[in-house]
Order: sequence, then C-alpha cells, then structure tokens
Amino acid sequence: MAVDETTLNEFLGRAVGDLGAAMSAALMLVGDRLGLYRELAKGAMTAGELAQRTSTDERYIREWLGNQGAGGYVQYDPGSGEWSLSPEQALCLTDPNGPIDLPGAYNIVEATFHALGRTLADFKSGNGMEWGEHHPCLFVGTERFFRAGYNANLIGSWLPALDGVVDKLKRGAKAADVGCGHGASTILMAKTYPDSEFIGYDYHEDSIRVARERAAEAGVANARFEVADAVGYDGKAFDLIAFFDCLHDMADPVGVSRHALQALDDDGTAMIVEPFANDRVQDNLNPVGRVMYGASTQICVPVSLARNGPALGAQAGEARLREVVVDGGGFTRFRRATETPFNLILEARP
Ligand SMILES: C[S@@+](CC[C@H](N)C(=O)[O-])C[C@H]1O[C@@H](n2cnc3c(N)ncnc32)[C@H](O)[C@@H]1O
Repeated sequence: MAVDETTLNEFLGRAVGDLGAAMSAALMLVGDRLGLYRELAKGAMTAGELAQRTSTDERYIREWLGNQGAGGYVQYDPGSGEWSLSPEQALCLTDPNGPIDLPGAYNIVEATFHALGRTLADFKSGNGMEWGEHHPCLFVGTERFFRAGYNANLIGSWLPALDGVVDKLKRGAKAADVGCGHGASTILMAKTYPDSEFIGYDYHEDSIRVARERAAEAGVANARFEVADAVGYDGKAFDLIAFFDCLHDMADPVGVSRHALQALDDDGTAMIVEPFANDRVQDNLNPVGRVMYGASTQICVPVSLARNGPALGAQAGEARLREVVVDGGGFTRFRRATETPFNLILEARP
C-alpha cells in the first residue's frame, strides 16, 4: 500500500500531540495534589520560588514546568525566567469549586489505569465491572469533574429550562437525586432551595457515606442520602426526580424509568442529564465524543454489563434514551429541555 507523506505527517502530528497529553496526565495530578497550579496562580515566579513555596524539589519543578509550558498549560517569560498562569489557565486548573475543574477529570483517567487488567479481561469475556469495584479515585474524579458542570449550569440554566420546576422548588418541593454519587448535585440544589427536601439515592454504599459527610461539611439540613438501587427506593410523590450522568450506567434503565414514573407525583418531572451525544455514531466522532466514548468503554459499559444490562453507553443519544424512558418506561411527554457541549438535559413527564 502506498503511503501518502502529507497524510502520514498530519496523522503523526496529531498523534504526537496526543502522546504528549497522555505523558502529562500524571503530571496534571502532580500539579493538583502538590498545589503547584494554585501557587502559580498567585503570580509570576521562578522554578526555585515555586519549589520553595510548595516545599518541593526545584529540579523536579523545573522539569515539570517545561512539560506544562510545552503543552500550553503555563506561560514562560524567557526574559525574567518566570512562570505564570493566565487567568484562563487559572480558571480551569486551580478551583475545584469553580465552573471548570480539569485536574478533577484526570482522577478519572487515573482510575482507567487501575482498571486496565480488568478491562483487558472483560474485552475477552464480555463481562462487566461494578462501579464499586473501581479505585476510589474514580468516585472523587466523577464528583469533581461533574460538580464543575453543575456549578456552571444546574441552577442558572438546567432547572429553569424545565416546565414549572423552579417555582415548585422555591415554594417547597420533594425531590430525589437518583445515582447521586458523592451528592454534588443534591447538595447544590438543597443549598439553593432551602424550603425543599432532597433525597439522594445510590446503590454504592461508600459514595453515600461520602455524600453524607459532604452535606454535613456544607451545613445542609434539607438533604439526606440513602443506599438504594434506582429500581428499589421507596420514596413517593416526588415533584422532581433527577438523574445526573447515570441513567446510561444502569443495568435496567427501563425498570429505573418505570420506578421513577410510579414514584413521581402526577404533575411531577423527571430530569435526565446525560452526556451530550448525537444519535448517529458518525456525528459523535469529535473531541467531546472521544472523551465520552473513552470513559464509556472503560467505565459506563462495564458497569451496566456487570448486571447484564443493555450497556446504553455514554453516547446513547436522545433517540435511544427516548425509547428507554417513553416506549419502555411509560412516560408520555419527553423533550430536550436544553443542552451544553457536554450535556443533554431531557425532561420526561407522566
Ligand atoms: C457517573 S456516576 C454519576 C454520579 C453523580 N450523579 C454525579 O453526577 O456526580 C454514576 C452513579 O450511578 C450510580 N449507579 C449505577 N447504577 C445504579 C443503580 N442501579 N442504582 C443506583 N445507583 C446506581 C453509581 O453508583 C454512580 O454513583
């Protein structure tokens, strides 16, 4: 086969960029865990100053800064020999409570390497891997990466896009957050709507323990957390049942939808937040699809397969989700309430 040199060089150019990103993944965690990004955000400094201020070794810091500068994650001024973060870099790299938490996402990347042996075996056998079998860095990474998206969008745009839900929450409503993980979304909603009552459900005991700790730390009294499967919680007459980035992980998403339908008030609303995806695979072959298919292959599909589920995957798309929720689950009204580049926000009503 003839190799076209231009095509080869284009491919290799992209691949070297990717190799650099992969080689830097653990160093992103180093920058986060040793406070290097947060210290750099305070102002321009030399490698020696950064090392001194973070109690780290200067030789390692010099090399780390070279890697970060080459990737465009920090700025270098050759005149002064100082390194710094731009406001945009600082926004994405230094604040776990802000609208973007890039290092948080790398805790998820870390989890995929812990699971590599299992992934290899599962590719052969077709078996799955339970959520709770993963390294705990997955749970923290999920909390951090998704919390940033919820901070940026949930209160200001997603809930207002649902018909009449914000008015109910302001007056005092009963809401469930199913598959709540560490409870980031539950706690955010509970803080914003103090007259409403929120129950977070998750089948993963360790996550519910952490969610309770997070709620206590936040001083939130109107949110509580229970260990329960999404097909088995016993709350009733909810005004809102929310699913944040979890319906596609579940082993029985049709059963989960049916259970939600009977647990909702007649005038209630199910909010299904899912990773953004188009319906056709060819329309998801882009940078966001790449991240999502990657996480889906190593985390979401195995979680569903572990209990013989349909493995909808993180790129299920609206049409497939409609089949699950309406055709299977029995909801009669279903629409895309809003979207972001990373999320579809779907509204389902009885
Ligand atoms: C990707 S995480 C999302 C967690 C959380 N909603 C968030 O946005 O941070 C998926 C969650 O779904 C939970 N989950 C999966 N299957 C479940 C089931 N059948 N019943 C209850 N929770 C389930 C997992 O334990 C995990 O916490």
